[in-house]
Amino acid sequence: MLELADVLAARDRVAETSRHTPLDYSHTFSAMTGADVHLKLETFQRTGAFKIRGATNRIATLPESDREAGVVTASAGNHAQGVALAASRMGVSAKVVMPENAPISKVKATRSYGAEVVLAGADYDEAAEHAHELEREEGRYYLHAFDDEMVMAGQGTIGLEILEDLPGVETVVVPIGGGGLISGIATALKGKNPDIRVVGVQAEGASSVAESLRKGERVVRDSVDTIADGIATRTVGEKTFEIIKQRVDEVVTVGDDEIAVALTTLLERGKTLVEGAGAVPLAALLFEKFDFDEDETIVPALCGGNIDMNMLTTVIVRGLVETGRYLRLRTVLHDRPGALESLVGILSDNSANIYAIQHDRTSRDVAMNDAEVELDLETRGHAHVEQVVTALEDHGYEVDVLV
Ligand SMILES: Cc1ncc(COP(=O)(O)O)c(C=O)c1O
Repeated sequence: MLELADVLAARDRVAETSRHTPLDYSHTFSAMTGADVHLKLETFQRTGAFKIRGATNRIATLPESDREAGVVTASAGNHAQGVALAASRMGVSAKVVMPENAPISKVKATRSYGAEVVLAGADYDEAAEHAHELEREEGRYYLHAFDDEMVMAGQGTIGLEILEDLPGVETVVVPIGGGGLISGIATALKGKNPDIRVVGVQAEGASSVAESLRKGERVVRDSVDTIADGIATRTVGEKTFEIIKQRVDEVVTVGDDEIAVALTTLLERGKTLVEGAGAVPLAALLFEKFDFDEDETIVPALCGGNIDMNMLTTVIVRGLVETGRYLRLRTVLHDRPGALESLVGILSDNSANIYAIQHDRTSRDVAMNDAEVELDLETRGHAHVEQVVTALEDHGYEVDVLV
């Protein structure tokens, strides 16, 4: 099984290609939670995520014959870019198989880091099948995204950095997809100090580890559904599951709405952009998914910042809705001149700013002489939402809150 010595040995290798990322005390999140919160900003890693650490350690420890043959992997996300850059920095050829519908931005980024991108298959599973064919046909080494001890050891160097920068750390909170990241970090931390608590976090729609721990055996989900695409994994690895059972203290889950709130709060208050998987540990802390003491020193590991811009727009709106900063509602007006003006007047009297308005006299959902109005409003929190809705209702409008 993976041991502290493996992570320590990975340290120098990883330093060849990767950054020691910052650990920042967060006044905002400390004040919000009562804990002593320090953010591990792995979002500032090369390629925008931690994957380059594991890929570097794996490639550096391959026999010369494998390095000459090159590596192959399948990924539509951060692993693709990590492998691409690690391999090119070490002068090793890399082929990355991505599903045919992979976002063009990710394909371009992976190519720009020096890998040959092969587009094959309708989804990740089919891309992985094709990558295994290349492994057989071309004798390339298949570089697994998580269930490989040298990969885990590389990711574990994050744990060493946290300890070096904050020796008094009490709890580290880590996202889990296939489990390679947390296996490495937990091995490093527990090996150095068994009293440090390691909390794993999954998305509710991809909670294979939480389910596997409850059942006592690895569970493979039929499907996954979460905005945190970096951890949308159907199952945990065989090796990583054994390590998690022994070295991770607890595993909790967070919902997509909670992830959206954490992501937008971090962006607004911390001026830091993370992807869904990157926001998951902070969501677990903000929504108190695990117990902690006042002033406990806690490090949420924010491990990736590669978010699609369309997804970011969706997540921001979801985050604003959850915090009462965005309100979409529908109501019905009598279709006569001035009716819309009266409605807008009430919104103005209650300081609700209009983002968008749709006025439909032809809607089949309303009577012939009525019009349906849908409004997107900027609001200032849950109490303000309540105030606006009540004001409209007091003036006789029937209000449907849509989001
Ligand atoms: C940003 C981010 N965080 C966390 C993880 C989880 O890592 P693991 O699959 O090793 O559990 C991933 C995996 O791709 C990721 O991209």
